[in-house]
Amino acid sequence: MLAIIGGSGMAQLSYLEIAHRQIIRTPYGEPSGPFTFGNVNGQDIVFLARHGLGHTIPPHQINYRANVWALHSLKPKFVVAVAAVGGIRSDLKPGTLIIPSQIIDYTYGRDFTFFDSTEQPVTHVDFTYPYCTVTREKLLEAARQAEEPVIDGGVYAAMQGPRLETAAEINRIERDGGDIVGMTGMPEAALARELGLNYATLAVVANYAAGRGTSIETIPLKEIYTVLEEAMVRVRNIIEYWVQCNGNKTST
Ligand code: HPA
Repeated sequence: MLAIIGGSGMAQLSYLEIAHRQIIRTPYGEPSGPFTFGNVNGQDIVFLARHGLGHTIPPHQINYRANVWALHSLKPKFVVAVAAVGGIRSDLKPGTLIIPSQIIDYTYGRDFTFFDSTEQPVTHVDFTYPYCTVTREKLLEAARQAEEPVIDGGVYAAMQGPRLETAAEINRIERDGGDIVGMTGMPEAALARELGLNYATLAVVANYAAGRGTSIETIPLKEIYTVLEEAMVRVRNIIEYWVQCNGNKTST
């Protein structure tokens, strides 16, 4: 089964034939909302709206541990995390889809690990390559089949939010090597790795980052949702192709 975590602009998968919704309790509290089980072209999919069904949970208040723990309990074969980002690199204009390959984490004060008990041995996970290679490849292949252009690779900078960045912060992130900036990529990716999930991100550039392109003076917030709405059609197309490419129920 394929699991999808939907970000801003993707609170629902409108084409999903909904079979049922399930509330999952976890040792870490409540996930962002119920898990929606459904069907795309005969294939099973489970979907979670990261910010809640009504898009009410801000990035720093998302219970990432509950979300990832609950997802893991469903044993999905792959997890695709859809996320809205700001584009820093000049070619990453609004509407661009990008499958990042690296992360820099600037977040703070979030519950970022499952391994914080003093009752278990100290555990470190390898995070050299933070996204699952196979999941990234499958996303790239689905995008190729769907004839949807996507950029292969880039550095995702995870910021605390909920405010957007200053122009100087974006300049600093660029010097650090960041290509895109978002607020929800961490600790989600690290928690997914801790539980061994095959997790990758499909990022949608919603706007130029602060101080860049059309955001030189101010980020045009009103335009973001139009951009996301348009881009989500392409995201859905890629997911449909993923499902088609991967054939039967057990291999999705
Ligand atoms: N910065 C941080 N997060 C974002 C942005 C941004 O410019 N756009 C969408 N999510």
